[in-house]
Amino acid sequence: MQSRHLIDLSDLCVNEWENITRLACDIRANIDSYYGACRGKILATLFYEPSTRTQMSFQTAMLRLGGRIIGFDNPSNSSVAKGESLKDTVRVVSGYSDIIAMRHPVSGSAMAASLYSRVPIINAGDGGHLHPTQTLTDLVTLRNEKGSFSGLCIGLCGDLKNGRTVHSLIKAMSGFPDNRFVLISTPSLAVPLYIKDYLSAAGTPWHEVSNLADAMPLLDVLYMTRIQKERFASEAEYINQRGVFVLDSDKMAMAKKDLIVLHPLPRVDEITVEVDDDKRAKYFEQTEYGLYARMALIMKMLEDSSKQLPTPPPGVQTQCSNPNCITRIEPYVPHIFRKSGDILVCSYCEERTLLD
Ligand code: CP
Repeated sequence: MQSRHLIDLSDLCVNEWENITRLACDIRANIDSYYGACRGKILATLFYEPSTRTQMSFQTAMLRLGGRIIGFDNPSNSSVAKGESLKDTVRVVSGYSDIIAMRHPVSGSAMAASLYSRVPIINAGDGGHLHPTQTLTDLVTLRNEKGSFSGLCIGLCGDLKNGRTVHSLIKAMSGFPDNRFVLISTPSLAVPLYIKDYLSAAGTPWHEVSNLADAMPLLDVLYMTRIQKERFASEAEYINQRGVFVLDSDKMAMAKKDLIVLHPLPRVDEITVEVDDDKRAKYFEQTEYGLYARMALIMKMLEDSSKQLPTPPPGVQTQCSNPNCITRIEPYVPHIFRKSGDILVCSYCEERTLLD
């Protein structure tokens, strides 16, 4: 049996999400009783991009379960700096560890890694594409702070184009009944087409606006995001977009009494510090829920894993049109597409490419 991976949250069924969030709540209440649940197991954290919360919460999670950790948080301190490919690094590290959490700046990198790994790969963020363990964190936060995953008006604000946490959260929350989205961004930082297609296919109501203040009274959940400087082609383009959306006390005064404000963090300037003292601000609690979510996820993924090297599927000649797709960066990765009418959807980054 080959390992199961978590590349997108859809790799788990909704029942499994609910079981993981329930387990995370039990871990939160009885954390000491879980020590030893992963005794003898090793987690490798391969972080090709900076991180505070994701990396440290994964490491803390494994240590609190009684397991051990290896890895790097800066690829320039590993043989990646000598030109080692993703394939070779993953194949080697999967021989040393039982499970791998990987963050990488390139879309589709987690799926590519899964083709060469003997152990489960957890996507800890692949470029501007997806961040499913942040979404598990968000689900645990919603279970505790809202008591429900359904019937919510969810506002997402900021860099919705490059915000991988936003993409994963929209995919997850559109799977629950009676949710609707208010997408608050400038036109150039709107959610990608594939996310709009996803919402339409799910039948989830959504609309786009460019004014945060107007949206405030409608919302049950406000999910603020940082403008992702590192994803812009130039400093000038970033400067043009930064500081457009700022949540402050005046805007909080327009919101429902039971609104909750979430943010995957890090924050730059999109939430003023005085909002931290508003009891509806839950983003620091959210970071702690992330620890319990990742403890539950590691336990679940190690339950039915076995060490077996997969055989990568054959690819096709067609190139993905996304220059930041892993198939364009690591040329040996097989090109794999799903056909949807007249277009090919890249299996790694979900970019659409017109059929020749
Ligand atoms: N939310 C999140 O991914 O934070 P880090 O980049 O600090 O891991």
